[in-house]
Amino acid sequence: MPPASDEVDAATWQRLHEAACEAMEAAYAPYSHFRVGAAALVDDGRLVSGCNVENAGYGVTLCAECGLVSDLVRGGGGRIVAFACVDGDRKPCAPCGRCRQLLFEHSTPRTLLAMPSGIMTMDEVLPGGFGRGDLESVTGADPA
Ligand code: THU
Repeated sequence: MPPASDEVDAATWQRLHEAACEAMEAAYAPYSHFRVGAAALVDDGRLVSGCNVENAGYGVTLCAECGLVSDLVRGGGGRIVAFACVDGDRKPCAPCGRCRQLLFEHSTPRTLLAMPSGIMTMDEVLPGGFGRGDLESVTGADPA
């Protein structure tokens, strides 16, 4: 079994870093030349990843996290335990605001993220985030 969310060991972070770097190498970023790779450990032990895919219509560019979330859902879903993102220099890259929301949907408050400033929880990276509970409280619908 993978480690609990607050017990991700150094070897796991190294694996995530390598997977994110491998994804970054596949990035399609001919416009910004800013390559990004992201990788995450899922609560069933799977490792998912993605890279940024730019477009001549700049606004429809897909961030690396979009590909990661697609990989996660396509592979059966689950909760993200730990997440790492790198830039073209293989350094930690902060997820943009939209991607924090994308990740929030598939995380727990204790999900860990390797940020440029160090390891942070999802709760710290997106405090007070909007989630399914906010919808349920108004519509009463259970989306599960
Ligand atoms: N980018 C990501 O892939 N993820 C982020 O969270 C931040 C930005 C990409 C989008 C674009 O291809 C490039 O980085 C420059 O913004």
